[in-house]
Amino acid sequence: MIKEDETMNKTYYITTPIYYPSANLHIGNTYTTVAADALARYKRKDGFDVMFLTGSDEHGQKIQRLAEEKKVTPKEYVDHIVAGIKDLWKLMNISYDKFIRTTDEYHVEVVQQIFKQLYDQGDIYKSVYEGWYCTPDESFWTDSQLKDGKCPDCGRAVEKAKEEAYFFKMSKYADRLIQYIEDNPHFIQPESRKNEMLNNFLRPGLTDLCVSRTSFDWGIPVSFDPDHVVYVWIDALSNYITALGYGTDNTELYAKYWPADVHLIGKDILRFHTIYWPIMLMALDIPLPKQVFGHGWLLVDGGKMSKSKGNVVDPVILVDHFGVDAVRYFLLREIPFGSDGLFNNETFIKKINSDLANDLGNLLSRTVSMVEKYFEGIVPEKYVEGDFDAELMALCLKTPQLVGDAIDQLKLPEALTHIWTLIGRANKYIDETTPWILAKDEALKARLGGVMYNLLETLRFAAALVEPFLPDTAAKVQRQIQAEDISFASLLSFDGTKPGTLVQKGEIIFPRIDVQKKLEELEALQEKPVVKKAVKPLKEEITIEDFAKLDLRVVKVLACEPIKGAKKLLKLTVDLGNETRQVVSGIAEHYAPQDLVGKKVILVANLKPVTLRGELSQGMILAASTAESLSVIVPDKDEETGTVVS
Ligand code: MSP
Repeated sequence: MIKEDETMNKTYYITTPIYYPSANLHIGNTYTTVAADALARYKRKDGFDVMFLTGSDEHGQKIQRLAEEKKVTPKEYVDHIVAGIKDLWKLMNISYDKFIRTTDEYHVEVVQQIFKQLYDQGDIYKSVYEGWYCTPDESFWTDSQLKDGKCPDCGRAVEKAKEEAYFFKMSKYADRLIQYIEDNPHFIQPESRKNEMLNNFLRPGLTDLCVSRTSFDWGIPVSFDPDHVVYVWIDALSNYITALGYGTDNTELYAKYWPADVHLIGKDILRFHTIYWPIMLMALDIPLPKQVFGHGWLLVDGGKMSKSKGNVVDPVILVDHFGVDAVRYFLLREIPFGSDGLFNNETFIKKINSDLANDLGNLLSRTVSMVEKYFEGIVPEKYVEGDFDAELMALCLKTPQLVGDAIDQLKLPEALTHIWTLIGRANKYIDETTPWILAKDEALKARLGGVMYNLLETLRFAAALVEPFLPDTAAKVQRQIQAEDISFASLLSFDGTKPGTLVQKGEIIFPRIDVQKKLEELEALQEKPVVKKAVKPLKEEITIEDFAKLDLRVVKVLACEPIKGAKKLLKLTVDLGNETRQVVSGIAEHYAPQDLVGKKVILVANLKPVTLRGELSQGMILAASTAESLSVIVPDKDEETGTVVS
């Protein structure tokens, strides 16, 4: 923590990534924003003038496709989802100062201006892009970078892209960036991630980055060549300065807050933030952010959360069942500095029971109950000369600094651990001082009062320190102990609790949870939507004769290619045993052509031929599909081509 006079004119600019409005946010991607919120609240409380920025990253191919699927315009689509994101932040008690949308007019204008400047000064040039594109990640890849033909970052299928495009001369700035990273050891944190960026990307040499697209139009048009839209990462990264008014008539906030103190991001998007972004800034002659911190991921049993795996944990359900602070606590305490954390319902509930219900909850309810029972609820006089007092007091006075140091290093779990050590010490103090025995002897009344005072004062320290992490809980503790002041400044001495005050016992702040019962309740919730989804109404009944009219055959895919201008279609050449046929299939969004070549699939062979997009289609490939996923049906064993399926 810093002293009052040091805070004059101290600013703290913290950002989260701006979120893709592509789906509902799960508990994992809620983490970055909750962590940033705790830091922002801490710094504000510590006297800094804080700017906490978050927002939404609304352009790109992925969003355009989602909107097409929903049959709405991209803007209608993003407006709807962004409203949901804002509701979620409200629910999670996120105290952001500004929410930027990349569809905001001022942002669009400045991105166009930035792009033009880079073009005018020769850092951006026009050429042709030929390579791969991972639409979910909105990232470009070369042949050699792919892993088993898939996106090396997320493992999903990539699409071939060949189009006229603008390129950014990344390589021009690579040496300067390497130097900068080496000279500023705290720029990329944690350390391991810095080495990963240097060794895997920067030192092997940077290729020029493709920074525009022409194959879709949901993006910011390049002002001097409107067939192109600005690559979504150039658009998105710029938000950190456009949000402050950079490039507009009013640059007051920019002058005040830039360079950012920290960009808090997940480890998956580190490359964009520590290579592309600093190079953009260097080219624009703008100082680099002071730090980029790539935190680990919250995993669930079975790895990453994903819709297709059906293991997505919904923060709204958790908040509904356990309260916002229980969720915030778990997130902030369970993702260790620099590595991944694990979520499952059982660990989560047990953590609530042990840390929140037992440690903090009990300390509060026992203390307030005892003050009511022994002193009619009136805070007794401070009385210090008893056993165990000095140690408790010393720990109280030491803890703010320990928490502050952990925060400065962004070690959020450690910060909470220090607070919980203090809470644990206070619980132990109750066992050591045995107030119920002191209460039996009228002569020990003053000592009993001293013990109560020390407990109330420790709770005041705990409330003050926990406030940035668990704001609602801090308010509840403060109300019950009736502490006037829980500012950091009030933690310089152990005497902020005012004798004579009437405490106000309230509800149990974290009721103990029956683990088994709650787990069953949560499981039942999980099952419901699955059951609902599975029961798609059946079609009209048919006879065996009706079915026999279908001629289904095992065929082998000999060749496969995209159809120009038809994003969803692939053209397949299949071997039926005694003939080859051409079939057009609407599976391009789920399979790359090379994934299908050599596969045996099932063909509806006697379907009347049709022409799709100018291509003859003689039959139909069988596939299982939902709105989000699609799998072609393959025979379980290696059946001969031409074999009848019945
Ligand atoms: N739109 C980009 C960011 C652009 S910033 C200029 C993006 N958006 S996102 O919605 O996909 O991700 C938002 C944040 O959530 C990222 O920091 C990402 O790392 C984080 N997480 C997504 N899943 C996560 C977990 N399971 N655990 C922790 N954080 C994770 O990326």
